[in-house]
Amino acid sequence: MIDEKLKHVAIIMDGNGRWAEARGKKRSAGHKAGSDALEKIALHAVDIGLKYLSVYAFSTDNFKRSEEEVNYLMNLFIEMFSKNYKRLLEKGVKVVFSGAREGLRADVLEAMDDIVEKSAKNTNATLNVCLNYGGREEIIRAAERYHDDLVSGKVQKGDIDRDSFNRYLDNDLPPIDILIRTGREKRVSNFMLYQLYYAEMYFTDTLFPDFTPEMLDDIIADFYGVERRFGGINYEKSAS
Ligand code: IPE
Ligand code: IPE
Ligand code: MG
Repeated sequence: MIDEKLKHVAIIMDGNGRWAEARGKKRSAGHKAGSDALEKIALHAVDIGLKYLSVYAFSTDNFKRSEEEVNYLMNLFIEMFSKNYKRLLEKGVKVVFSGAREGLRADVLEAMDDIVEKSAKNTNATLNVCLNYGGREEIIRAAERYHDDLVSGKVQKGDIDRDSFNRYLDNDLPPIDILIRTGREKRVSNFMLYQLYYAEMYFTDTLFPDFTPEMLDDIIADFYGVERRFGGINYEKSAS
């Protein structure tokens, strides 16, 4: 079903807290349910042949939340990377991370490094987990790496265009074809600003723990009906 037209899907997994609150549960229960939903979505994405899936797991700004919620999420990440992702590894998924390492706990970094190392040789698909991530921050990190290359003479001014600049970002990923945001809000919340430039945007009221592989399939089916012009004009179709 998936071909060259669709390489990269990105998901802003929002609505975990509201999912829990609606059930009279603590926000943490929503995050747990969200992590289960993510595992299902990621496994399904590999099965249907998607090559790149990026997910927004924790924004740099999410550190503004209570210590209790932040700690719960960090412990959940460790559990996810060290236990739950076994099935993803078996399916040949390579796990990479985008975001700042500074500010993350040592045990979280260890679990991240461990899964990156274990999955480094996998080639079926790539799961990019954005953790302690901000899109503007990533662009600043890229600008700093580019600056270092200019200073060292590795590249000259004018060598880099908008595609090759990609290699200075946290991961060299193809542009995002489909962005999905669950949980009602229609905003980007500082997510993958450089990579989103021609993304088709899908906003759904469904809260992330309720988001299913079938919903992903529906979005992909819709995407295949969209004419992407990238600023050009389809002269065969237009009456000029
Ligand atoms: C998204 O769900 C998960 C993270 C930000 C870690 P939220 O926790 O933002 O859920 P709502 O938006 O409060 O419902
Ligand atoms: C975006 O959701 C971050 C993640 C899904 C990890 P938020 O809930 O933090 O975004 P805002 O505050 O509604 O913009
Ligand atoms: Mg939210």
